[in-house]
Amino acid sequence: MKVVDLFSGCGGLSLGFEGAGLNINAAFDWWDPAIAVYRENISHPIFKQDLSDVDASVKLISAFRPDMIIGGPPCQDFSHAGKRNEGNRANLTIAYSEIIAAIRPKYFVMENVGRAQNSIAFKDAERTFREAGYGLTMTVLDASLCGVPQKRKRFFCIGKLGEANGFLSCILASHQSDRPMTIREYFGDEFGIDHYYRHPRNYSRRAIFSIDEPAPTVRGVNRPIAPGYSKHAGDPVDLKGLRPLTTDERAQLQTFPLNFKWLGTKTDKEQMIGNAVPVDLAKFVAKCIIEYEAKLLPSGEEAFMKNKEKFRKWLIATEGLTLRSTNDVVSRMNRASRLVDVESENDIEDIVFKLGKQEEFKAFSMSVRSQLRRAVCLYRDFQTADAV
Ligand SMILES: C[S@@+](CC[C@H](N)C(=O)[O-])C[C@H]1O[C@@H](n2cnc3c(N)ncnc32)[C@H](O)[C@@H]1O
Repeated sequence: MKVVDLFSGCGGLSLGFEGAGLNINAAFDWWDPAIAVYRENISHPIFKQDLSDVDASVKLISAFRPDMIIGGPPCQDFSHAGKRNEGNRANLTIAYSEIIAAIRPKYFVMENVGRAQNSIAFKDAERTFREAGYGLTMTVLDASLCGVPQKRKRFFCIGKLGEANGFLSCILASHQSDRPMTIREYFGDEFGIDHYYRHPRNYSRRAIFSIDEPAPTVRGVNRPIAPGYSKHAGDPVDLKGLRPLTTDERAQLQTFPLNFKWLGTKTDKEQMIGNAVPVDLAKFVAKCIIEYEAKLLPSGEEAFMKNKEKFRKWLIATEGLTLRSTNDVVSRMNRASRLVDVESENDIEDIVFKLGKQEEFKAFSMSVRSQLRRAVCLYRDFQTADAV
């Protein structure tokens, strides 16, 4: 499946989807510092584009023929239910829905803050998705129940063309944990602290947190300890000797890998870290979609078994292989079909990409890997010839 990421920022959503085994082909954003970080860490292309220009964006994005579009339009302008003062950034949610309706990928995933679902902009977007033929699964996920040591609640709207509403709800629910992930469970004692300071939004809230609980939402700013801070009733310990988390630690709470390279000013880095979808939350969602797809399709091996004899005859008749080489190719294809579902992909590049991502495949020697790739390519030629 070819995936394009819109409003990609520094790439939290992209990294998670890629980590789950999907093939990201391109990303789009317009903020230079985030584009630079994305480019530094992720190999597929990122384009600078104003996505509020729907017509121009549709032209650019369609060139990648995406089967799935993912993206988190900016969210700062959402008002609470019923208010009509949503600003320009809320309109980008509408722009996102118009891009989806124009391109009509098989799947789309939209991520946003929880209150987005009650906004006027989202109601417009939802109508556009439905009119374009999408069945929708809409849910608020708490990252700390999806393998991330952070209590971050985000709204996801996942669409699939021609599908029933709520199609992914059961799978999403079945994989969530019944208790939140704590920082210590995820990182052990790597941070070298038991408690830390996190500047509160207002002084009715506590500022001191323990690593034996999930972190509160990582925001786009990281303030130092306020000089006049006085103890809050909810603080588990005194402030003395505590510190705020560093920028790198906050990136880790967003489950970015340790070797991810952050460029730019401290302010820009904090902003893009706070903007991001936690990588492991994105991976959680992507894996649920992959599981859903796999349930709809016969497994790769089952599908191959049905065609095995026909493939064997084709190899001899059309490719002129000896019986021995034919048997080798068939047995290699059999092996490959356990690793990748050739029937579920349209492009040979996607099949080879997916195959290359499998741990079992990576463990083979170079010559076995190349034999398996050749068998898959021959099988795809056979399928194309058989379909004519
Ligand atoms: C919430 S962040 C997305 C974070 C990203 N999904 C991640 O996981 O890292 C929203 C992004 O939208 C981008 N953006 C805002 N307005 C835009 C526009 N008109 N065109 C393109 N990108 C825009 C911002 O630069 C920002 O990176």
